[in-house]
Amino acid sequence: MTVSSAPGKVYLFGEHAVVYGEPAVPCAIERRATVTVEIRDDDHVRVEASDLSLDGFTVEYAGSTGGRPDVDVPAPLVEAAMGYIDAAVEQARDAAGAPDAGFDITVESSIPLGAGLGSSAAVTVAGIDAATRELGRKLSPRELADRAYRAEAAVQEGQASRADTFCSAVGGAVRVEGDDCRDIEAPNLPFVVGFDGGAGDTGELVAGVRALKEEYDFAADTVATIGDLVRTGERILDPVADAGAGDRLAELGRLMNFNHGLLESLGVSSRSLDSMVWAAREAGAHGAKLTGAGGGGCIVALDPTPETLTALQFTPGCEEAFRAELATDGVRRVE
Ligand code: PMV
Repeated sequence: MTVSSAPGKVYLFGEHAVVYGEPAVPCAIERRATVTVEIRDDDHVRVEASDLSLDGFTVEYAGSTGGRPDVDVPAPLVEAAMGYIDAAVEQARDAAGAPDAGFDITVESSIPLGAGLGSSAAVTVAGIDAATRELGRKLSPRELADRAYRAEAAVQEGQASRADTFCSAVGGAVRVEGDDCRDIEAPNLPFVVGFDGGAGDTGELVAGVRALKEEYDFAADTVATIGDLVRTGERILDPVADAGAGDRLAELGRLMNFNHGLLESLGVSSRSLDSMVWAAREAGAHGAKLTGAGGGGCIVALDPTPETLTALQFTPGCEEAFRAELATDGVRRVE
């Protein structure tokens, strides 16, 4: 039996624009998905998830289903989760040269599903890591990130960047621009997350931005502007380039506010995301923005004081609020 865990993430800057080759800076957070894998003596895959949906689920199927198991699953979010798990199984079988390997898999996650915190990437990364180790192979974080990216891209029909999977595999703060993925230095940023209890459909939201960009020049310009903003943010994060400069948190927060406005103009925010963003700003956060695909889900704010957390807990539309430490470890084996 092998157990691996991988972190979720928030986007400090750059979601959506990263799909078109602009840079993005996601940061791994200490909310993890844990996947337990035990090899079977047939080619079946049995998946049990107690807390991926309110009711949990157990699904068993034979062989490979090519990313979309043709089995009865209780809810759309569970179906999506099953797609990632199946794609992770395929990657692990391929990496270990064991096309007929079967597994009993248990998934536990403290990352809300489809809410902009990289839950699918964390499950995919932890799943590939645990399944390949169970088959006697250990992948490097980069190879793991690459395989997890291919798994996600298969499920999301090509509409995925490398940001979530790379960040979950290596941990810390990372910079992703096209195929160029690196870890970068960052201070331990005081993230506060607000969750509206909902989820956005990443594929639909990405397709919406693509259509807007094709129809309107302003949308294409907005994507490029997000790229410029990310490059400015990176200079503030860089401890050498930024030496002696002003209040880094205040400057990063200001850029987060700009980034949220730009995402809003691309049509990916929502009423509940906007009210959480404004509640955070009014509580004195340095800045706040939606994180991930949008449409519903989570916002991230920067506030070292308890004020934003308290304000979010009393904000209508906010179901849960929590502080999120930067996760310096990416995927890791759980002993
Ligand atoms: O909502 P998430 O955590 O799946 O993030 C999606 C981020 C996008 O930039 C919108 C898409 C991508 O694959 O980068």
